[in-house]
Amino acid sequence: MELPDLDKLQADLLQTIENAPDLDALEAARVAALGRKGQLTQSMKSLGGLAPDDRKQAGQALNQAKERITQAIEARRTVLDAAALEEKLLTEAIDVTLPAAPRPDGRIHPVSQTMDECIAIFGEMGFTVAEGPDIEDDFHNFTALNIAEEHPARQMMDTFYLPERADGSRMVLRTHTSPVQIRTMKSQEPPIRIIAPGRTYRCDYDATHTPMFHQIEALVVDEVTHLGHLKGCIIDFLRAFFDIPDLPVRFRPSHFPFTEPSMEVDIGCSRKGAELHIGAGDDWLEIMGSGMVHPKVLEHGGIDPARYQGFAFGLGIDRIAMLKYGIPDLRTFFEADLRWLKHYGFVPLAVPSMTSGL
Ligand code: PHE
Repeated sequence: MELPDLDKLQADLLQTIENAPDLDALEAARVAALGRKGQLTQSMKSLGGLAPDDRKQAGQALNQAKERITQAIEARRTVLDAAALEEKLLTEAIDVTLPAAPRPDGRIHPVSQTMDECIAIFGEMGFTVAEGPDIEDDFHNFTALNIAEEHPARQMMDTFYLPERADGSRMVLRTHTSPVQIRTMKSQEPPIRIIAPGRTYRCDYDATHTPMFHQIEALVVDEVTHLGHLKGCIIDFLRAFFDIPDLPVRFRPSHFPFTEPSMEVDIGCSRKGAELHIGAGDDWLEIMGSGMVHPKVLEHGGIDPARYQGFAFGLGIDRIAMLKYGIPDLRTFFEADLRWLKHYGFVPLAVPSMTSGL
């Protein structure tokens, strides 16, 4: 068999390799040259038919050609690999704005869940969320709310005081969310319709009290809102929250320095031994404080009580979470025990609404 013109063959193969547009074409070129039926392989096979001297010479030449071709393939492969990677990076860009894949192990704490549920329900009623600081001054936590210096409420609330400041005053950890009433009145013009969820602090610790707990405050101020609106709003909220359309709700005369008149709100329940059942029965459970905003409080908020009026109420978020979800001890809320959270926590789901419940 005749050997092909090796120089020409090598030049042709090198050209094909160097021009290979992609890795597939390069592989095809490699097979065409060095594969079992490749041109160089076939030439090797035909060496046997040559005279010994010719065979030696041609063999060396073929081996050199093989070497060069192999190197050329490797060099081209490096270039094409880099190009392929570049192309991939360009076309397969990571979209960091896509939502992360859900991590099913996490749970939503009952306090967060309950807070979200309250915000959703009040949101549908047209309330917006307002906030205030956890560390309050005496004016916003007490004085502006008509709780005078010597008022027993200051002791009753088991206030945490911060160290005395240069001017002799002491900041407090807010004992309720009511100071947000004052801050909102000072920063917004009526009509006002806000809820203020957040942390509150009192020095107390047992199965139903922890030094830090959560409240949600509601405040409505305009020219026309009256006690009937207060009652309707609270009844609608409680029935939506507990998802009991005919939940009995009772308003009982009470006293708060910052509302006049003031009422405590009870919901119907039954108690059998240690078992508490909400929504039916002949017993009552106190659930929140409420009333018409006291004229002095409106004044402290910079609002004319001759023109404006409204209502306010406040309730414990942890407490209604315990009642709704049957959690017996408040202290467990804040022990950060993952087993507890797995049991009582929530997977992210839709929050209830006034029309659809949970
Ligand atoms: N701030 C009161 C409390 O912590 C609750 C309340 C709020 C009562 C608003 C009336 C009006 O007990």
